[in-house]
Amino acid sequence: MKFYKHTGILTGAITLAVVLTNTLSANAEEVNGLKTAESFASIEPESARSAALFDEMAKVITHPRCMNCHPVTGGPLQGDTQRPHSPPVKRTEDNFGVVAMRCTTCHSAENVEFLGESGSVPGNGHWQLAPQSMGWIGLSTIEICAQLKDPERNGGRSLQEVAHHMGDDSLVGWAWNPGPGREAAPGTWEVFAELAEHWVESGAACPG
Ligand code: HEC
Ligand code: HEC
Repeated sequence: MKFYKHTGILTGAITLAVVLTNTLSANAEEVNGLKTAESFASIEPESARSAALFDEMAKVITHPRCMNCHPVTGGPLQGDTQRPHSPPVKRTEDNFGVVAMRCTTCHSAENVEFLGESGSVPGNGHWQLAPQSMGWIGLSTIEICAQLKDPERNGGRSLQEVAHHMGDDSLVGWAWNPGPGREAAPGTWEVFAELAEHWVESGAACPG
């Protein structure tokens, strides 16, 4: 009788431990729809791991929060539907727009809520369009990957500098603090930055 009682408690404890471990590891592997760098650790060879890391990063890179500022032709886009920017602002050589419609005429250093209706004007300390050579809209994941690695098109950056930009630039970070009326990019800035770091460390391979 006593024996069965104890077995019951023991079985209960083991079940609880298994459930807890599973929950914890599931949490560690994916955060807000983005897998952590750690969850790729067992993929061999290294080049396959690297390419898989980039595929995961692409979930963020191709999200409207990033894409809307990285067009190849035309001006910036707006919203989750990626409609053309209203009012229609043009790209200028310095990527800040024409004199009367500089980005900073409307975009301030912070997100500003609309008065009387839902939504907000997005903002950041250096709100501007990404240069044309860094445009991504219409490119495949493989093409974006190759472009990011090319110093002729990525602003003369080394691979380490590309990874650093992903984890340090406040325009990148804005994608996880986009203001009312806008969905944040998948994951967290930290998880994304870690993916970028591991991608570079593992040889910065491209998928495909
Ligand atoms: C006349 C004011 C005005 C000017 C000038 C302007 N914007 Fe905007 N922009 C807005 C407003 C307002 C919104 C928010 C629209 C909404 O969400 O309904 C917006 C939204 C955006 C978004 C959408 C963000 C997202 O992911 O949804 C981007 C990107 C953007 N602007 C880039 C720029 C850039 C780059 C420039 C300069 C070349 C610029 N804007 C100039 C008013 C302006
Ligand atoms: C408000 C506009 C804006 C948003 C939003 C934005 N970027 Fe950018 N991005 C820029 C500008 C401007 C540059 C050029 C900065 C420079 O060269 O110093 C740039 C450059 C980059 C670069 C440098 C290398 C290259 O080849 O593009 C990377 C990487 C990058 N952005 C990643 C991202 C990611 C990832 C997101 C979303 C999480 C994002 N950006 C969101 C404006 C934006």
